[in-house]
Amino acid sequence: MKFKDQIDVSRVPNHVAVIMDGNGRWAQTHGEMRIFGHLNGVSSVRETLSAAGEIGVKYLTLYAFSTENWDRPREEVAALMDLLVKTIVKEIDDLQENKVRLQAIGDLQLLPENCRKTLNQAIEKTKNNKRITLTLALSYSARWEITQAIRAIGEDVKNNKLQVEDINQVTIDSYLETHNIPDPELLIRTSGEKRISNFLLWQIAYSELYFTSVFWPDFKKEDFYEAIVAYQNRERRFGKISEQVSC
Ligand code: FPP
Repeated sequence: MKFKDQIDVSRVPNHVAVIMDGNGRWAQTHGEMRIFGHLNGVSSVRETLSAAGEIGVKYLTLYAFSTENWDRPREEVAALMDLLVKTIVKEIDDLQENKVRLQAIGDLQLLPENCRKTLNQAIEKTKNNKRITLTLALSYSARWEITQAIRAIGEDVKNNKLQVEDINQVTIDSYLETHNIPDPELLIRTSGEKRISNFLLWQIAYSELYFTSVFWPDFKKEDFYEAIVAYQNRERRFGKISEQVSC
């Protein structure tokens, strides 16, 4: 039976986050340059977004470019930025037609001007769409995000907009890049690596982690559905015992 048919549609995660990994190694196995892997990774982005939308996932967050990725060879960084712009331009009508709201999190000021402009235009154009929110993590790292949040909290305390004793977990949530997105119930990482690599460290406190050896360019709808089925077979206890959560 196909994985899609095994999904309980009443228990689909609201938010799925994905660490898209393995583009470079996939390209290598095909005797090609790394960028060939990134180019082919775009079709997996499309498949994953479409698969998520089909089963009613409301938020999909993709780790597209980390703060640390700026240290890659200059040509690879330039090619990735170029690919991002071209992909947004190519896909914007489809995003709009499918009622996808595009967002981005990360230190977007570091993106090249044309990239930021194209991204902002697409974000503006799709801002009222309600079917699914696609968040691209770009020039993002969780430690950068948490540092920014702490600085902003400090500023607000200094300016008497916030009292220290009022700071709680909800306050911290509200200062993060993801303030308007619920925490992910499921985090998927492709390519066989079992690391979080500075992604959504605060938000994944209770997320189910799913690792697959499939390289990102080979990750298709059924791979996504397989991850959903695995998620649905887990028991989420949030620190309680089994009997407390099963009744
Ligand atoms: C990780 O593989 C992937 C990236 C750093 C870039 C992801 C980009 C895309 C899938 C294409 C563009 C995306 C959008 C949203 C338009 P890696 O290069 O780290 O692979 P490796 O671990 O095998 O070297």
